[in-house]
Amino acid sequence: MRIGIVGATGAVGKELLSVLEKRNFPVSELRLYASARSAGKSLKFRGKEVNIEALPETPLPVDVVLASAGGAISKQYAPIWAKQSVVIDNSSAFRYDPGVPLIVPEINAHAIQGHKNIIANPNCTTAILVMALYPLHKAFGAKRVIVSTYQSSSGAGASGMEELLHGTRQYLAGQPVEHKTFAYPLPFNVIPHIDAFQENGYTKEEMKVLWETQKIMGDTQIRVSCTAVRVPTLRVHSEAVTVEFERPISPEAAREVLQGAPGVDLVDDPANKRYPLPLTATGKFNVEVGRIRKSLVFDNGLDFFVAGDQLLKGAALNAVQIAELLQKPVAG
Ligand code: A2P
Repeated sequence: MRIGIVGATGAVGKELLSVLEKRNFPVSELRLYASARSAGKSLKFRGKEVNIEALPETPLPVDVVLASAGGAISKQYAPIWAKQSVVIDNSSAFRYDPGVPLIVPEINAHAIQGHKNIIANPNCTTAILVMALYPLHKAFGAKRVIVSTYQSSSGAGASGMEELLHGTRQYLAGQPVEHKTFAYPLPFNVIPHIDAFQENGYTKEEMKVLWETQKIMGDTQIRVSCTAVRVPTLRVHSEAVTVEFERPISPEAAREVLQGAPGVDLVDDPANKRYPLPLTATGKFNVEVGRIRKSLVFDNGLDFFVAGDQLLKGAALNAVQIAELLQKPVAG
């Protein structure tokens, strides 16, 4: 396949290069696009330097476009790219369009059928949540979900990581901490504000978790309430999750289901201090799940903790997995 990466120099773009390599994706030709600022620079792929081009306003000469340059670029250009290529879009621009599949391959690969050359890659927090939630939902019927997130700086792109590192140095040097990407200085702080506030008091990031969980799991009845919080880590989103199920559930039964779930690593041995952590989930394709215990609030309720590398399963890995689906007939 001829692959084009739009936003190749970004936090997700760089991971796309590495995931294509690690998964031995059959790339016959690779084109890298970014802003005019990056044109003429290059990035390494399979040992060779590949030139970065300024994004043209025309269709791109590739079979698949992996787009990760933000919603405004996708909104403007994806319809143009889709004339000649299949677009796998990492932004939220098309996710809620009923004609655009929103895919997590382990969960709803079948929904890719009938796509019209634009396929949406989910919000990072949602992708990580549903990896654990969906297998439990299938087995026990999830009704209501409460999620509190601990989201890393790289969720805001390369500039978010840079702002955290630079701000930490400033803080340690006793200087005022500058901030631009985040609403407040992030070092030694947590910020309960990701994306724009909506009329109902939730942020758009929090609403995405509801909308996208329903769409990916194909269940408009499931209720999800989220509090999304930025924390001073570089990568990996962690989430504390409480779920009320239709049917009785025990931690042992949940562990059994999650043990066999694709893309999930059960890390749940508190006696030996083993539980999900950004430290261990960084760079990992699988999502870690642990701290599984019976809810003290809901009958048929379960509490657990997940940690997933949101640049990977929440973005680049999931996008490449979608591209892999395009290569093979999809089972129903
Ligand atoms: P550049 O590095 O040249 O600015 P991140 O999500 O980490 O912030 O990365 C955003 C990505 O989107 C980068 O690769 C960035 O390229 C790219 N980008 C930003 N603006 C444009 C644009 N107008 N046209 C093409 N790519 C863009």
